[in-house]
Amino acid sequence: VNRPNHSVVSEFVFLGLSNSWEIQIFLFCFSCLFYISSLTGNLLIVVTVTSDPYLHSPMYFLLANLSVIDLIFCSIAAPKMICDLFRKQKVISFGGCIAQIFFSHAVGGTEMVLLIAMAFDRYVAICKPLHYLTIMSPRMCIFILVGAWTTGLIHSSTQLAFVVNLPFCGPNVLDSFYCDIPRLIKLACTDTHKLESMVTANSGFISLGAFFLLILSYIFLLATLQKHSSGGSSKALSTLSAHITVVVLFFGPLIFFYVCPSPSTPLDKFLAIFDAVLTPFLNPVIYTFRNREMKVATRRVFSLLLGVRKTI
Ligand SMILES: *[C@@H]1O[C@H](CO)[C@@H](O)[C@H](O)[C@H]1NC(C)=O
Repeated sequence: VNRPNHSVVSEFVFLGLSNSWEIQIFLFCFSCLFYISSLTGNLLIVVTVTSDPYLHSPMYFLLANLSVIDLIFCSIAAPKMICDLFRKQKVISFGGCIAQIFFSHAVGGTEMVLLIAMAFDRYVAICKPLHYLTIMSPRMCIFILVGAWTTGLIHSSTQLAFVVNLPFCGPNVLDSFYCDIPRLIKLACTDTHKLESMVTANSGFISLGAFFLLILSYIFLLATLQKHSSGGSSKALSTLSAHITVVVLFFGPLIFFYVCPSPSTPLDKFLAIFDAVLTPFLNPVIYTFRNREMKVATRRVFSLLLGVRKTI
């Protein structure tokens, strides 16, 4: 078969976020602040959990792994966005664009599975407390992690398989600041209706399904807690509400992007910034502020880092 030389596009141009100087300065400060805070906050969680023997339990291992994922996730699109803000020509190579899509879906898929695993962990802790350590054994934790990353990589590769071979022949302007599939597909010189519904099915229904699964399991757990309300339940309640907040923050924007098919509204872009820098920043904040053990442990790490001796 004589394959026509369609793919002449070697780079894409981002329109960016705004042309107004004031908004650009604001976005620059906002994104820098939250990007750096995301990095520090998540790094702090990883250091705290790995260095504190009191936190060597499945729940905290999963939390630290979530922080590693957040560290990667916020470094996929945000640094380039921040560097691009004041550039006239915001370009990204074809390969760079594909890489952004690949990593964001791989890491996003992994995070989704990890959030489900964290709900399962809370289910075991609340409903089968006596078997907690046998069910959530180190082997189980490793199994969960391997499963999460495998799922992420498979999801991401299947998404890319649809996109990589599309013919891109002319228009190469993306009204965005990062590459993602729904927008990229619209630039292909072919009929992409089938493909768009495939992407909606793959990303949209998976995230919608996972979201409802998670919300239902947390409602079930809250109901169980209500029934056997005992001394430890207020702590369990605050842990659960932290989990639920993170789940809503993670899935809200995702569902908006993939299920509601109207890209390129300003709201869309601001939600994307929210997803890129604010959500990874909020995870550590929510977990550390809602959890007494984490708070105490973080303080310990801080005083170690600052070389302060404990005097009390
Ligand atoms: C991730 O989870 C595994 C398995 O529980 C654990 O051994 C590892 O320390 C965790 N990673 C981090 C960075 O805490």
